[in-house]
Amino acid sequence: MTTTQRDDGPLHLIGNNSPVTEEVTVEPTAVTGQIPRDLDGVFVRNGPNPRTGTSTHYFAGDGMVHAVSLADGRATWYRNRYVRTPLSENPGKSRFQLAFHPVDGTIDFRVTTANTHVITHAGRVLALEEGGFPYEITPELETVGPFTFCDALRTPMTAHPKICPTTGELMFFGARQRPPFLTYYRAAANGDLLQAKEITVPRATMMHDFAITATAVIFLDLPVVFDPVATAAGLPWRWDDTHGARFGVMPRHGGAVRWFEVEPCYMWHTMNAFDAGNTIVVVGGRMPSLWRDGPADRTGGLPRLHRWTLHLDSGAVTEEPLDDADIEYPRVADADVGLPYRFGYVTSFSMDPRPAHSQIYKYDFSRGSARQVLRLPTGNTCGEAVFVPRAETAGDDDGYLMTFVHDRARDTSHLAIIDAADLSGGPIAEVRLPVRVPNGFHGNWIPRNRG
Ligand SMILES: [Fe+2]
Repeated sequence: MTTTQRDDGPLHLIGNNSPVTEEVTVEPTAVTGQIPRDLDGVFVRNGPNPRTGTSTHYFAGDGMVHAVSLADGRATWYRNRYVRTPLSENPGKSRFQLAFHPVDGTIDFRVTTANTHVITHAGRVLALEEGGFPYEITPELETVGPFTFCDALRTPMTAHPKICPTTGELMFFGARQRPPFLTYYRAAANGDLLQAKEITVPRATMMHDFAITATAVIFLDLPVVFDPVATAAGLPWRWDDTHGARFGVMPRHGGAVRWFEVEPCYMWHTMNAFDAGNTIVVVGGRMPSLWRDGPADRTGGLPRLHRWTLHLDSGAVTEEPLDDADIEYPRVADADVGLPYRFGYVTSFSMDPRPAHSQIYKYDFSRGSARQVLRLPTGNTCGEAVFVPRAETAGDDDGYLMTFVHDRARDTSHLAIIDAADLSGGPIAEVRLPVRVPNGFHGNWIPRNRG
């Protein structure tokens, strides 16, 4: 099986960024420690894995979902599957070739890499990428097909929708490179689309994530703007100092958007947001700039955890750094999304394709953003740490963190299961796999009793 990591080539194709070449269903080779018996479900994680073995940019690879099934204190299988999209089914054809209709100029949003996230809502598992429609897959990773909310979805869908833990509603947006640039959507807990509303913004910007509170949604209008000339570097986006930066606050059910000017920055990911009296608090990974000279420019700095306080009375914004560590993949417990919260989780981040090791940080915001660190062994790296609650009523550190870890020396991977209440003991279980799981983006836990 050709899963070996490459040593030479562009950064996004070497080390554990190297794509794997086969789809497999295998049993784990060993388990270190004890898998908690209350874990009954499937851990899924999406990421780019170009079928041709090469891609113009890390973000452009075909979506491959990796999954480990856990039940009764055992790990029963690992499998990896491409999301069957027109791109993965036509290796070598460009997105433009497949999506652009030469006669009427329309874009087919079924053409997507589907490579960024995988979520569950209303009993469906959806693989997401911000340039296209969601793709429904099964918990066993078979592709069902594009999902369009009964044709109500008329734009792409962000890879970072938010599910309200109180109402079960799914809130998301669709960003496009031509008008309408931004559309807001809200779906009921049963999956019915309740609302689609165009949001007026001056131009197309790269809007990767947003945030919700108990009452509002918050759009991020940041200065990475659409520029077809930048396509030569793999993606049509670049920094623009003239654009400024603003957060747009809108009631969840619609209404006027109120824009708050912030210091120019980019933010791939919010950690969370919540209402706090006459303010709204937003926490996320702030970068001073991004892609000033186009998508190949790596000089903009890495995300650091940052807090913005939006003062609803005055319109002022207070901004403060929360840590000086380079981080990515901020997450909170699903039960805390949009609500005041105590704990948040991130992974250390580096542009080095072979960092010495990864660290997982747990922040306690009741103690001045104090951080607890889990340092993986030398040569071991991981991506996003997903919080999995111990029970449906679990609090925001009553559960586990799960992440795929790559061991560079052995060139194999394992699923690490960590006690979220106390990172100091290291993983409580490691599910060792006979294959390598490449670096990727985002994932989730699918409980077997999903509704
Ligand atoms: Fe993301």
